[in-house]
Amino acid sequence: MKHALTGIKQLVTCANQGLKPKRGLELKDVGIIENATVVVEDGRILALGTASSLTKVMSKIPLENIYDVRGRSVVPGFVDSHTHVLFAGTRETEFAMRCEGKSYMEILNAGGGILNSSRMFAEASNEIILEQTRARLQRMLIHGTTSVEIKSGYGLDTAQEIRALQLINQLKNENKQNIFRTFLGAHAIPPDFKKSPDDFVRLVCNEMLPIVGNKKLADYCDVFCEAGVFNAIQTEQIFQAAVDQGLRLRLHSDEIEAIGGTEIACAMGAISVDHLVAITEQGIEAVAESTTIANLLPGTAYSLMKTPAPARKLIDAGAAVAISTDCNPGSCYTESMPMIISLACLTMNMSPEEALNAATFNGACAVGDQENVGSIERGKIADLVVLEGSDYRILPYHFGVNPVNRVMRAGKWVN
Ligand code: NIG
Ligand code: FE
Repeated sequence: MKHALTGIKQLVTCANQGLKPKRGLELKDVGIIENATVVVEDGRILALGTASSLTKVMSKIPLENIYDVRGRSVVPGFVDSHTHVLFAGTRETEFAMRCEGKSYMEILNAGGGILNSSRMFAEASNEIILEQTRARLQRMLIHGTTSVEIKSGYGLDTAQEIRALQLINQLKNENKQNIFRTFLGAHAIPPDFKKSPDDFVRLVCNEMLPIVGNKKLADYCDVFCEAGVFNAIQTEQIFQAAVDQGLRLRLHSDEIEAIGGTEIACAMGAISVDHLVAITEQGIEAVAESTTIANLLPGTAYSLMKTPAPARKLIDAGAAVAISTDCNPGSCYTESMPMIISLACLTMNMSPEEALNAATFNGACAVGDQENVGSIERGKIADLVVLEGSDYRILPYHFGVNPVNRVMRAGKWVN
């Protein structure tokens, strides 16, 4: 059955020539069609264009299947390509400690941080974790996020990591959003392995990853490559074991210090390197010359009170840039991609166009699904976001509130 959206003042397609992520000047083009109509059939986009160009197909659509957005703008559903949204409990005590000057790593090294969330995860039932996570995913959805990458990582042992991935798979099957699954077994060094971290790396490589691979529980493997957590050599070992299991790679790198992970990830063909707050000139060059996407997380820099990643330098060097929330209970607790788009503009000097492309098409590239999502194009999934304003720049401009009026996911209104 066909239905249509009409009265669109600006249809911001974010469409692209081909399937490669946008770089340089391409990031400035968001592909606007003024006074537009979109026709949807069976959850996919059947046609789009100016209202006057679509009169023929519109004449066959019954009136009750036509929805007038009344002069608002429409953008593609956001692709949040880096989240830790599956977790139990929250960590506001640590937030308050950080406000008083304690650092994120000090809290982790003292047994808090990820280790704190790992304890809460082990103690929580599946029902509680799912209930809390579904509430966050729903908040993401009403803020316009129709595709989400979700990492495990609060398990820190084989049984709990497998449980985390099974829960992510359960949420994926519920199909409220388009979900991508990442195994992050190497997220912190568990207390029992503090004296022998290499033994934990062996556990990830020889015990966890073969199960993840055999049971096809994940699409990607990630590592927290950071001083005092997993070093570059350990990261490479885990990556090799992940590739052997048929997983693609992505990396937490240069979040606090640059220790060489970015270069390794680019050389190994990782789909993205994420954070990059402390990236070196050499790292910028490595990303710009590779197919790897620079996935920037300005909400995390904001929440950790750090200078954000050098987005301008990365873009000007020719890197493909995406942006995402990093939604997690420690370093960045937000579900809102509009807030991230605003922070990208206001703290990283990205233009509204660059930020929107980074949150949509390039985000889709960062989860490898740009054939289906990330732009409004014929044949793609009808994931559409109606904004409150007639100009899409309301997104970064009207910050701290939800500028989204209505969301369509795979051809169906969710609100
Ligand atoms: O991307 N740094 C590692 N992982 C997350 C934080 C996870 C947490 O603190 O719970 C990040 O910042
Ligand atoms: Fe993260």
